[in-house]
Amino acid sequence: MTLPKSNRPIENRLKGKTAIVTGAGSAAGIGFAVAERMAVEGANVILTDIDADAVTERAGELQSQGFNVAAFGHDIISEASWRDVFMQTISAYEAVDILVNNAGICILNKIEAMSLDDFRRQIEVNLVGAFLGCREAVGRMRSQGGGGSIVNVASLAAIVGMPGTAAYAASKGGIRQMSRSIALECARDDIRVNTVFPGITETGMQNTARKDNPGVGQSLLETVPLKRSGAPSEQASMIAFLASDDARYITGAEFIVDGGLSAQ
Ligand SMILES: NC(=O)c1ccc[n+]([C@@H]2O[C@H](COP(=O)([O-])OP(=O)(O)OC[C@H]3O[C@@H](n4cnc5c(N)ncnc54)[C@H](O)[C@@H]3O)[C@@H](O)[C@H]2O)c1
Repeated sequence: MTLPKSNRPIENRLKGKTAIVTGAGSAAGIGFAVAERMAVEGANVILTDIDADAVTERAGELQSQGFNVAAFGHDIISEASWRDVFMQTISAYEAVDILVNNAGICILNKIEAMSLDDFRRQIEVNLVGAFLGCREAVGRMRSQGGGGSIVNVASLAAIVGMPGTAAYAASKGGIRQMSRSIALECARDDIRVNTVFPGITETGMQNTARKDNPGVGQSLLETVPLKRSGAPSEQASMIAFLASDDARYITGAEFIVDGGLSAQ
């Protein structure tokens, strides 16, 4: 696909900044698109993922193009793992300026069929994982001074009701309110916290959701006003903007990137 000009990276916009992006191991995922975009815009990027082999491979692809990136195997529900990622990032790059809480899981099921384990797992990974990341980042950004930017990735499911998403929607709705609250706590220190709500975006997660719910995904896609699903790079351009100084007056805010779906 030829991207419109506005989706092209802005040279040096993130130069001198160090970013941690979670869930960056999937080649077709939003996290890798964000990591790539930020690297192209000049940031040092730490790609993390629970799949250590995949994220090492992704980082290798960027390193071979000359970008300054590193990879860590990282389970976002582990406090120790978060501490480790921050410690290693700081010893390599001295600061953390940007955190993108992107990693997530989605297990769709009707309410009667949703197991307690599946409900808890989605809250644990999507919401508790993002909480641990925010806590670690805010502590570090406050102590190093100079502000910072946290971008939390929620979902359209946090805004509109969708059958089968009770647990996923609850976890993403939690991210929405958590982000606003943390934004207010941190604004005086120039630490900005914003939330992005992707709509239907062509990734592994989206493919699985479609396969598990034949018909539902397709009929939802047909209602998108822009008449297509989004590309991971289109989420990445919003996230890179929010991470950058171009968004320096924006905090506690919400950005829907859904081709107009939720406007109906
Ligand atoms: N694709 C969409 O249509 C869509 C829509 C709305 C929101 N989102 C959100 O965007 C984010 C990225 O989704 P995607 O579509 O790129 O999915 P994806 O499945 O391609 O990528 C998610 C990544 O998170 C990693 N991950 C899962 N559990 C983890 C854990 N405990 N610790 C660390 N990493 C873990 C996975 O290994 C994977 O690489 C997710 O938060 C998702 O909920 C996606």
